[in-house]
Amino acid sequence: MIQFDRSGVEPFLDETALTTALSGARDAHERLVGGTGEGAEMLGWRALLSDPNDALLGDIDELASEIRSRADVFLCIGIGGSYLGARATIDALTPYFPDGGGPEVLFAGHQMSGAYLRGLLAHLEGRSVYVNVISKSGTTLEPAIAFRVVREWLGRRFDDVARRIIVTTDPETGALNRLAREAGYRRYVIPPDIGGRFSVLAPVGLLPIAVAGVDIRSLFYGAVDARRSLEAPDHNSAVEYAATRFLLHEAGFATELLAVFEPRLSGLGAWWQQLFGESEGKEHKGLFPATVLYSTDLHSLGQYVQDGRRNLIETFLLPDDDGGGLVIPAAPDSGDGLEYLAGRTLSYVNRKAAEGTIRAHRGGGVPVQTLRIPSVSPTSIGELIYFFEHAAGVSGYLLGVNPFDQPGVEAYKAEMFSLLGRP
Ligand code: PA5
Repeated sequence: MIQFDRSGVEPFLDETALTTALSGARDAHERLVGGTGEGAEMLGWRALLSDPNDALLGDIDELASEIRSRADVFLCIGIGGSYLGARATIDALTPYFPDGGGPEVLFAGHQMSGAYLRGLLAHLEGRSVYVNVISKSGTTLEPAIAFRVVREWLGRRFDDVARRIIVTTDPETGALNRLAREAGYRRYVIPPDIGGRFSVLAPVGLLPIAVAGVDIRSLFYGAVDARRSLEAPDHNSAVEYAATRFLLHEAGFATELLAVFEPRLSGLGAWWQQLFGESEGKEHKGLFPATVLYSTDLHSLGQYVQDGRRNLIETFLLPDDDGGGLVIPAAPDSGDGLEYLAGRTLSYVNRKAAEGTIRAHRGGGVPVQTLRIPSVSPTSIGELIYFFEHAAGVSGYLLGVNPFDQPGVEAYKAEMFSLLGRP
């Protein structure tokens, strides 16, 4: 289970204020679990876990096996909440260098680079391609353009295109529904009461994750267990995490860095950025969420974190077992002065780097808290997904905003469509 340690932020907090914030967070938690807070009509991500649909998990697994046996490439087309969760989970739970045991899982429609799409089509040439277009609305510009291009390309190469395209969209209103019906594409639904950034454990994320070879039952049931264990307001790590970050926000801190030391957790940081950025960043409030990969970023952003403007807090996400048991060899002739590390594992060195960074940053005036997971496994990642979703709901209520809408993302679209001359 996830262990939250807030001892490194306590020196920055007044004890009475912490007690008050914890009590406020427990109230916010009650509104979340009782469905009495703002945006309560969008709590389908919780309902999904209270009544697991094993038949759906089985159906997704079956389709994933078919795709794994027939496809060289599985292309996921989607953006924002329709892609970040799948990418995060796949990155975390599949090998750094795939062994060719299943299709290559690629992404498109998550930006508008023509160069990327041209390169992608060239890369797909001569390979068996299956496509999952994921869009609740079906009209989001980036995936809609990519899907047009890819569908046209598929049509010129395969005579069984209908089998090769799987649509994931809203059950009723998604603009992809008509196309799926007419063309005979297989279809999964995104429940209307689940917003994009909370949808990774719906078919939005589960199909791509299953095709990548991840055990979606362990992932899903990890989240089910986390939901159960975070149902009580007391001794609730998600409530405590929400309370401390709220207090630091109120104290004037502006940015929360989610720091990882394992590259395969960076995608989870990108998913977390959207979850907290879209849930909290309203009415000129909220901590700006940003992810850093250490020790890589200690050689770039580390200077700023240590000595720059003091408006940052850091949350370290650390697995107890990072899977990095590689032993450093002896090499007395190397002249690098590292013989004292010969025989140690990279995990050991990486762990000491994390401990040292925490000490240094605390010493430099950064409030530091840690989240520990036992290992990077489907169960742990499922737990973590629910933990952060729950904390985002509580955090939004603490700030006094609706954590389940995202009105601000429309502004740029209005300007862009006006420039593009949309009728
Ligand atoms: O969280 C959200 O609601 C957004 O990030 C959406 O998921 C994103 O804009 C994609 O929308 P759609 O699934 O309708 O294409």
